[in-house]
Amino acid sequence: METVVLKKHYNIKRVQRITEARNQIKKWKREGFTIGLVPTMGFLHEGHESLIKRASEENDKVGVSVFVNPTQFGKNEDLGSYPRDIKRDEILCKQAGANLIFNPEPSEMYYKDASTVVNVGGLTEGLCGAKRPVHFGGVCLGVSKLFNIVTPDRAYFGEKDAQQLAVIKKMVKDLNFDIEIVGCPIVREFDGLAKSSRNTYLSLEERKAACVLNKSLILARKALNSGERKAARIKDIISEKLGSEILAKIDYIEVVDSLTLKPVENIESSILVAIAVYIGETRLIDNFTFKA
Ligand code: PAF
Repeated sequence: METVVLKKHYNIKRVQRITEARNQIKKWKREGFTIGLVPTMGFLHEGHESLIKRASEENDKVGVSVFVNPTQFGKNEDLGSYPRDIKRDEILCKQAGANLIFNPEPSEMYYKDASTVVNVGGLTEGLCGAKRPVHFGGVCLGVSKLFNIVTPDRAYFGEKDAQQLAVIKKMVKDLNFDIEIVGCPIVREFDGLAKSSRNTYLSLEERKAACVLNKSLILARKALNSGERKAARIKDIISEKLGSEILAKIDYIEVVDSLTLKPVENIESSILVAIAVYIGETRLIDNFTFKA
């Protein structure tokens, strides 16, 4: 009789210690399984769910890290208030097909005497990097530690954080991590607002106002599709729309080359149109890419 080996099983294990995560991964690797990693800061939503599902389609085993990484928050940012709900995250991970949750305490991830920094030059200088000076150093340090702990074959990141995705791809190339980085499309709410754990900060009134981000990008894309090739004009279109929403305060509007992330004046190749906007106190980001 033929034995059918079912590679996937939907039992989920949550571990907090690096050694526990490593032991599980080593066991899976000995058994010949491929590993997908979805790094997250928890309070998971359908955007994360899409990453986990994709990872589960493309790998035998999927690990999800749930870690609010302190090093990527500036002094006056929302580290303390960042939403957390591990029980809810566990259910979503299980339903989406994850096999392991790695949910370490900050003290497990960061030793008191640690002194190593991971700094990706160039790509981190503009956009969110210009506004959040410590952010990408923290992201790269945290993610490179996760990569060394989990040693995945593939790791999955959302395209909503377009600069983060570009920076991590560069870090992986520069540091020879043997990991394929997979970017996954933005998942949106019914009214176009990009899914984000931070959407939970919005009051009812702010939540209604927040869809202006996507609306402004839709207008910009329309203009590009109609042949507009001046970056300044694209920025004006976005600015005008955002300006029509009283609760919106622009942090930045940028039109950059999608590989170098350097601002462009004339749109001649592949570009990233990226915005960061405060709705009340909450800073939201959104973007799209366009090929001229
Ligand atoms: O995108 C995030 O949630 C975080 O920046 C990440 C990649 C999990 C690193 O902490």
